[in-house]
Amino acid sequence: MKYLSYIESIEFATDALSKGRAFLTSGKDAPNTMTIGWGSIGYMWNRPVFIAVVRPQRHTHGIMLKESEFTVSIPTKNDLSAALAFAGTASGRDGNKFEGHGITASPSQHVSCPIIKECGLHFECKTRLIQDMTGDRMDESVIARSYPARDFHTIFIGEIVSCYTTDE
Ligand SMILES: Cc1cc2nc3c(=O)[nH]c(=O)nc-3n(C[C@H](O)[C@H](O)[C@H](O)COP(=O)(O)O)c2cc1C
Repeated sequence: MKYLSYIESIEFATDALSKGRAFLTSGKDAPNTMTIGWGSIGYMWNRPVFIAVVRPQRHTHGIMLKESEFTVSIPTKNDLSAALAFAGTASGRDGNKFEGHGITASPSQHVSCPIIKECGLHFECKTRLIQDMTGDRMDESVIARSYPARDFHTIFIGEIVSCYTTDE
């Protein structure tokens, strides 16, 4: 395991997000993971942050409202396309996504919810702000493209307390 500056990871992680190749994992006692494609790594309140957007319908959303920690794990050497497709369509409400799909929940370093063992790049985050989006001041072109049903995301801003690679 090697700690990284979050800045070193931005380019790789943002490219992976744009391809829908990241797992967001939450839940200490009953961990769950889901695929994410939207998110940002940046700097706010004098801290590095990961900004995730999660729709209220997700099982993950309920966990993230209750528990103020989450991790983001990104595949590096392993393809994990099948696991990403599964985690991005199945819900943790209906079964344990860690059983039989080639991904393993593994202990984190600084938060109590796990990382995904088969991934090589990890962000451990503590939630500092939860904010529901509304359409009130959203550009109409964004609403038309991303929210025709006005099912807006909730924004979770997590302080990145640890960023590291588990690749050799
Ligand atoms: C490529 C891809 C990217 C996705 N990105 C997001 C995202 O950024 N936010 C979100 O709320 N859902 C996103 N989803 C949908 C969730 O991963 C999906 O609804 C998942 O089944 C939710 O799991 P859960 O109910 O166990 O939380 C994405 C799905 C895919 C396939």
